[in-house]
Amino acid sequence: MDFSFSEEQQMIRDMARKFAEEEVRKHAAERDEKEEFPTEEVKKLAELGFMGMMVPEKYGGAGLDTVSYVLAMEEISRADASVGVIMSVNNSLVTWGINEYGSEEQKEKYLKPLAAGEMLGCFALSEPEAGSDATNQNTVAVRDAEHYILNGTKNWITNGATANVALVIAATDRSKGHKGISAFIVERDTPGYSIGKKEKKLGIRSSDTVSIAFEDCKIPAANLIGEEGLGFKFAMKTLDGGRIGIAAQALGIAQASLDASLKYSQERKAFGVYISEHQAIQFKLADMATNIQAARLLTLEAAIAKDQGQPYAKKAAMAKLYSSKIAVEAALEAIQIHGGYGYIKEYNVERYLRDSKITEIYEGTSEIQRIVIARNLLKT
Ligand code: CAA
Repeated sequence: MDFSFSEEQQMIRDMARKFAEEEVRKHAAERDEKEEFPTEEVKKLAELGFMGMMVPEKYGGAGLDTVSYVLAMEEISRADASVGVIMSVNNSLVTWGINEYGSEEQKEKYLKPLAAGEMLGCFALSEPEAGSDATNQNTVAVRDAEHYILNGTKNWITNGATANVALVIAATDRSKGHKGISAFIVERDTPGYSIGKKEKKLGIRSSDTVSIAFEDCKIPAANLIGEEGLGFKFAMKTLDGGRIGIAAQALGIAQASLDASLKYSQERKAFGVYISEHQAIQFKLADMATNIQAARLLTLEAAIAKDQGQPYAKKAAMAKLYSSKIAVEAALEAIQIHGGYGYIKEYNVERYLRDSKITEIYEGTSEIQRIVIARNLLKT
């Protein structure tokens, strides 16, 4: 596998790094503290073309590949993982899904503004009783002439408080199990669509996470994605790509933990020398760097497979499983290297730990990634 980057991919990475360093990092700690949505930063991400990176140019997107997306996601998340997840949901879950499965009319009406950053999207699959067990949908959509009537509640919806549209997964025929699940584009202004209170979270605190309730929401039948019964596969395929994005987000957090550790260990003295001269610290730095590189290669491998039209569900699950694990470990080691200073907010590493944990949970927990990997191993 060729891991070298094209000129365009390098340019995207450099552009993302510059923007992240100059504009995203600046107020990241403050936004985290205040739980403040990064409105200006998301607007600028859209100007750079980063909110619809893989959307074809004819729908107003940047027309880039998954490798470019991964490179940009790592850089943005290295500065602020909250900004990373907002970007990731709009790119890999919302715009990718509409571009891949939506009708021409849906692409004109929703994909174009979503790719341009004029709209923000969220992905509403999880429910109070359907997290890992995604087939267990209690949200129901009933056909009524040229509409569907939607009822139910979705939980833990990233971007949910800000999003103009939601991709909603709902049962259209509960007797058919996963084959009776469908996907819809639902506008936030639809009567009966109500947004719950913002969740108080451990990490990624400047991204918003809410529940969304639907009470007799009347949705045009034209907003059904594909056909009835496609919803579960739509969600699974979309999440396969989403997991590559979250792997890249985790990588960004891990890299930020290493960056901070390298800097601090060459500034802080103990026993008369910089702590970087102690082998105890050197071993930690070496392990962090090795794990990060392994995670990066797994993530790129999944992205390359997706770009080449090869199967990538297993590769994406491996990338997310490993990257999220080493992100938590790297953040913990960064705190250990910083000692007491790591436990307070000044050096940001405690934020990296708080932000890293969610990467082992959303878009499929680590346990779910293992199920996906094992099932793929056993069927070959
Ligand atoms: N691609 C295409 N089809 C797939 C698929 C995939 N990746 N995975 C499963 N399917 C198909 C299967 O082939 C099967 O179809 P057939 O019956 O036609 O053969 C059907 O879907 C059902 O599959 P399973 O029997 O494997 O279904 P399951 O009930 O055992 O569930 C699971 C499988 C992997 C556990 C799945 O439920 C899952 O991934 N759960 C986790 C859900 C998740 O990731 N949630 C994240 C929420 S979104 C989020 O976090 C976003 C955010 O805000 C950041």
